[in-house]
Amino acid sequence: MSNYHIKDLEEYYQVYRKSVNDPEAFWEEIAEEHFLWRKKWDNVLSWDFKKPEVKWFEGAKLNITENCIDRHLSARGDKVAILFEPNNPKEGVEKITYTDLYHRVNKFANVLKSKGIKKGDRVCIYLPMIPELAISLLACARIGAIHSVVFAGFSSIALATRINDSNCKMVITSDGSYRGKKTIDLKSIVDEALEDCECVESVLVAKRINSEITLKDGRDEWLQPLLNQASDQLTATVMDAEDPLFILYTSGSTGMPKGMVHTTAGYMVYTAHTFKNVFQYRENDIYWCTADIGWITGHSYIVYGPLANGATTVMFEGVPSYPDYGRFWEIVEKHKITQFYTAPTAIRALAKEGVEYVEKYDLSSLKVLGTVGEPINEEAWHWYDDNVGRKKAPIVDTWWQTETGGIMITPIPYCTPTKPTFATLPFIGIQPALMDEEGKEIKGNQANGRLCIKFPWPSIARTIWGNHQRYKDTYFSTFENMYFTGDGALRDEVGYYRITGRVDDVIIVSGHNLGTAPIEDAVNEHPAVAESAIVGFPHDVKGNALYGYVTLKETGEGRNQENLRKEINQIITEQIGPIAKLNKIQFTDGLPKTRSGKIMRRILRKIASKDTSNMGDTSTLLNPECVKDIMDNVL
Ligand code: PRX
Repeated sequence: MSNYHIKDLEEYYQVYRKSVNDPEAFWEEIAEEHFLWRKKWDNVLSWDFKKPEVKWFEGAKLNITENCIDRHLSARGDKVAILFEPNNPKEGVEKITYTDLYHRVNKFANVLKSKGIKKGDRVCIYLPMIPELAISLLACARIGAIHSVVFAGFSSIALATRINDSNCKMVITSDGSYRGKKTIDLKSIVDEALEDCECVESVLVAKRINSEITLKDGRDEWLQPLLNQASDQLTATVMDAEDPLFILYTSGSTGMPKGMVHTTAGYMVYTAHTFKNVFQYRENDIYWCTADIGWITGHSYIVYGPLANGATTVMFEGVPSYPDYGRFWEIVEKHKITQFYTAPTAIRALAKEGVEYVEKYDLSSLKVLGTVGEPINEEAWHWYDDNVGRKKAPIVDTWWQTETGGIMITPIPYCTPTKPTFATLPFIGIQPALMDEEGKEIKGNQANGRLCIKFPWPSIARTIWGNHQRYKDTYFSTFENMYFTGDGALRDEVGYYRITGRVDDVIIVSGHNLGTAPIEDAVNEHPAVAESAIVGFPHDVKGNALYGYVTLKETGEGRNQENLRKEINQIITEQIGPIAKLNKIQFTDGLPKTRSGKIMRRILRKIASKDTSNMGDTSTLLNPECVKDIMDNVL
């Protein structure tokens, strides 16, 4: 087991060397020792980044839910698998043991089967953070259906796009959701979406807020009565290692969201292995990741990684500010949380409210603190370290992506000395490279370039659903024989990595990936808008916020600008969701363009960031005069 729980830096380097010198032997040993297989693999790895094609543990047969549930039953049947903490603390927690989980997943899977869901069918899950969300993922996996979770903050149009892209046969939703003091009517969002989705045959509705909803005859049914009738026994469907486990959409810089496809065995091995090491997980720890299961962090590190280790994983339905800003810390104290994993944007938002909310609580159970989703600034890092970890719980700044499936660059707590704002060292088996503008690898330390990965790891996404060419173009065409992450990074004198941010047109707002193109498309739908360009600018809580430059048609001129701003944000909310709303909207007569008609976003980014040094030569633009005008009227 020496390569499973890394103890110190020396051991890290030793294991790391082994993992990159002979990756196949390394991953084979881990897969062999720590998982339950119906049949072992014929071949550990075959790959070709040119095609691109990656296959891990080919020929193996398994079901991931047998690894996440069944095999724990004998030793951990009464152990809490999922600890549900509701939005309203007065409601009381729900503890789901491994035995309960086994029965509930089986019942749910039997319901899916009774509705005609078969291996390979796609099921869209649009649920709030309630136990049914985790259970529905596992129920799909149990029968080999491919789940596609859509974050329940997306609008009906965004939901419909995702349902249609992967032709989902079923939608699982709830009557509504709680978010702090608010309730959200999820079912009506689904109803609106389904007006445009012919592929959906049935909708299962979980009851959460007891609101009045309408059930469409022949299509919609309450979930609970079906579960009550279903058997709690079911043999898991045997899956091939490379059978798809799920699709999860992520924003691209252009066009449609990308349905990243993750497959079964490699994803399981990598998420379980990283969970155990990155959080130094031990039996009886109480682990809490505050992400939503609608994002990859929730898939890998609320559901699959922790459950594959037989851990207790906390699911929190609410928000950090309700009933007050001490909510996170109250939960940490109440459940004696040992590992706490959150996003920099949450840390910044809470830091703003003052330390009194943190100081009230006993946080001495915490052993490891994690962050993910965006670069963490130095101030937030220290606030977290001083006030939450009280300098006793190391911070793991984990860099990874929807596409990578699991954590890629991270300290190992109590092993890798941490450095604020640095994700530090590659995880075992991960081979990062920094590339220069000419496409050459920059060797040696103290380098700055585009972050790529040279060698496949078990949980790399295998394709984009229905569009392998786009997968190739996006990730494998910028640099030869490399997976390109879309991020920039620097490497310091000891080889630590610091992620500097996206180098494409993806903007990370409060840890959410947003592509500029779909937002511009939404803005341009406004009848008064001629053209728009969206850029990011630094924001002290969100990390980045969105700045829109908008030119109006003649019909829009002279209209009240405040009303126009509201209408534009309303369209964005309808088309994508409130997370993509613009913080600032500047109306302008023109957008700076190159002679070939391309909008010069670099200039717009600098103006929005109020950084007008080194604007470069603007005289070669098609319309240089608009730059001064935009600068004079910047918001
Ligand atoms: O830019 C990087 C940023 O988030 C992007 C991936 O976003 P998503 O696919 O939504 O997955 C987020 C959760 C894994 C990356 O390309 N990012 C993620 N983690 C970090 C980060 N940037 C800096 N530091 C991190 N720790």
